[in-house]
Amino acid sequence: MKKMWSGRFLASASNLLDEFNASIMYDRKLYIEDIEGSLAHAQMLTHQKILTKEELTQITDGLAQVKSEIESGEFVWSIHDEDLHMGIEKRLTAIIGDAGKKLHTARSRNDQVAVDFRRWVLKRNLDIIESLKLLMSEILVVANEHTQTLIPGMTHLQHAQPTNFGFHLCAYLSMFKRDIERLQDSYKRCNVSPLGCAALAGTPHKIDRDMTAKLLGFDSVSVNCLDTVSDRDFALEILFNISTMMMHISRLSEELVMWSSYEFSFIELSDEYSTGSSIMPQKKNPDVPELLRGKTGRVYGSLMGLLTVMKGLPLAYNKDTQEDKEGVFDSVETALISLEILKEAIKTMEVKSHNMQSACSVGHLAATDLADYLVEKCGIPFREAHFITGRAVAKAEELGIDLSDIEFKYLKEIDARIDEDVLEYLVLKNSMNARTSAGGTSTVRTKEQLEFFRKFLKDN
Ligand code: ARG
Repeated sequence: MKKMWSGRFLASASNLLDEFNASIMYDRKLYIEDIEGSLAHAQMLTHQKILTKEELTQITDGLAQVKSEIESGEFVWSIHDEDLHMGIEKRLTAIIGDAGKKLHTARSRNDQVAVDFRRWVLKRNLDIIESLKLLMSEILVVANEHTQTLIPGMTHLQHAQPTNFGFHLCAYLSMFKRDIERLQDSYKRCNVSPLGCAALAGTPHKIDRDMTAKLLGFDSVSVNCLDTVSDRDFALEILFNISTMMMHISRLSEELVMWSSYEFSFIELSDEYSTGSSIMPQKKNPDVPELLRGKTGRVYGSLMGLLTVMKGLPLAYNKDTQEDKEGVFDSVETALISLEILKEAIKTMEVKSHNMQSACSVGHLAATDLADYLVEKCGIPFREAHFITGRAVAKAEELGIDLSDIEFKYLKEIDARIDEDVLEYLVLKNSMNARTSAGGTSTVRTKEQLEFFRKFLKDN
């Protein structure tokens, strides 16, 4: 089959080459961006008197027909056309004739693909932000119901201090908020028009790059053509942003898996979002969070893949760059479905508040409070207070009870400076509510945090 670039070739391309070289089977996803890019380019060429008005009309009508053929499934995607840019241009020229051959004036596939891919990434960036907001809203609903529900706060996966479940969820809201902000920040950097950079060095044609940038909704025009045609930072940024977001999703998923176990029994995922076993009839498995954890690895793979593709490329465009798309397409799809299913799983899960609270009665969660009491009420230096408390913990261990249940007489034996008001400090709910420093776990501070996230969602 005759190629658009075949002028200098004596023999035609092998089928093997066509199969190896083609991106059309996946870059066809960019057809809307490609057609819109061509329309903007043609309008600008007409404004600059490089095309006539009649030619513009033909191109506009022809591209509308191509679009409807693509959408009805009539359009023939062939690896012999290599990529969507040439597939669409070839079909356009078949429909309208010579005007179709003029469309590529002052343009290269190098700036064309950069335009298409950037605009696709920009749109998906907004879709991911929207999904993140929906997830945050759902987490907010659950968090709001549990600002008094005690849960053991842990470090090293060991009981540390009592917190409330709403506060715990606020930690994830903080992560997802940062994810949104990272996407918003990347959006600005991505929103720069490559159109008119042509192959690598610009063009002698009297084009108007500002006009096409404006028509396509870009904020500005890129500064250096050589950089622009080989720059894939925008693709790397969305991959990094999705990777970080998936890492957050994965951490939450890990907790959901753990909390679903009999050992924890802090939550139960709904039947709608759980799976069974093919052999063990009793099983109810948390496949959803497990798979979310697993898919995170796959997204990291795409980020590492593209970083590696880019690292040795001399300026400017190289065909290696064609390997940029599949990982991004896959990661965006993974991100969107992950956000949606996580939201549904959270919305429909049962929170077993009672089990969370009773888990707090082991592990001496109030130990820090005893040390704080010794500092505050008895004027004992913290290091010493820490030691005395350690002895109280040892006593509780010896008695086989939790420190929060210890009788006053034992504490008095350990240190005579301790008074009976110490018992108030050892009540777990009081311990949680005592942490009133900014960002702390007390119910009052947790409610402030929820308000902060509500406002963030309203303002963004
Ligand atoms: N299919 C190519 C890609 O995705 C388009 C650009 C090709 N340019 C070239 N000069 N071969 O990168």
